[in-house]
Amino acid sequence: MKRLILLLTLLAVPTSLLAHPILGFPRHRGVEPLTNPLYSESCGECHFAYQPGLLPARSWKKLMAPAALEDHFGENAELDEEDRLAILKFLTSNAADTTWHYKRSIKITRSLAEDEAPLRITEVPYIKKKHSHIPRWAVQDNRKVRSLSYCNRCHTRADKGAFVRAEVDIPGYRNWADLF
Ligand code: HEC
Ligand code: HEC
Repeated sequence: MKRLILLLTLLAVPTSLLAHPILGFPRHRGVEPLTNPLYSESCGECHFAYQPGLLPARSWKKLMAPAALEDHFGENAELDEEDRLAILKFLTSNAADTTWHYKRSIKITRSLAEDEAPLRITEVPYIKKKHSHIPRWAVQDNRKVRSLSYCNRCHTRADKGAFVRAEVDIPGYRNWADLF
């Protein structure tokens, strides 16, 4: 009888728990490939529109503060207040630390201390470590890349939230995997 009760209890575990980062496995490998027309238009002009799941909400809040947008990595990315608030909501409600289902977002969140709020995805320890051994000639000195910030120049399916190694194509260096 005890066994039967145990079995029934196990069967009653909701399947959503299987996607829990501690109790189970995340369901998807990448970051959630969310899109939003206002966001793509306002934030996809100078670089690809980074998915919200690439940074925790506290980072998006810092980036989206009015003063921060006025001096955004040396550029002016100011928005009118209505658009700013709408984009802020889109980013924070889908941020890396809000998901249990997307593996990369979970790894990003786990690699940061709770009070750390980097302004760059490329400064998140997990992302930094993944690229630490890539030589300058492939990135900064590569005219077709210039900076690690342009994820989609190498990650061919970045716009789909996919960042697996097998789908990397460094412009000018098709055979990069043999070079470093
Ligand atoms: C006028 C051009 C421009 C616009 C518009 C713009 N950005 Fe940027 N953004 C930049 C530049 C330049 C960098 C730094 C790139 C580099 O270091 O090579 C950057 C970097 C970033 C980074 C850090 C990337 C990294 O290195 O990890 C984030 C995150 C970011 N932008 C988010 C946004 C968001 C959100 C918006 C919309 C509110 C936005 N950007 C709009 C020019 C822009
Ligand atoms: C110069 C090209 C280049 C750019 C730009 C670049 N990456 Fe990468 N990325 C790579 C390479 C190469 C690897 C594989 C490294 C290895 O395993 O040796 C990689 C690995 C990764 C991985 C781990 C994949 C895996 O299968 O373990 C993630 C996640 C990732 N990159 C995210 C990003 C994000 C997010 C950005 C933009 C902020 C970015 N990358 C920009 C080249 C690039």
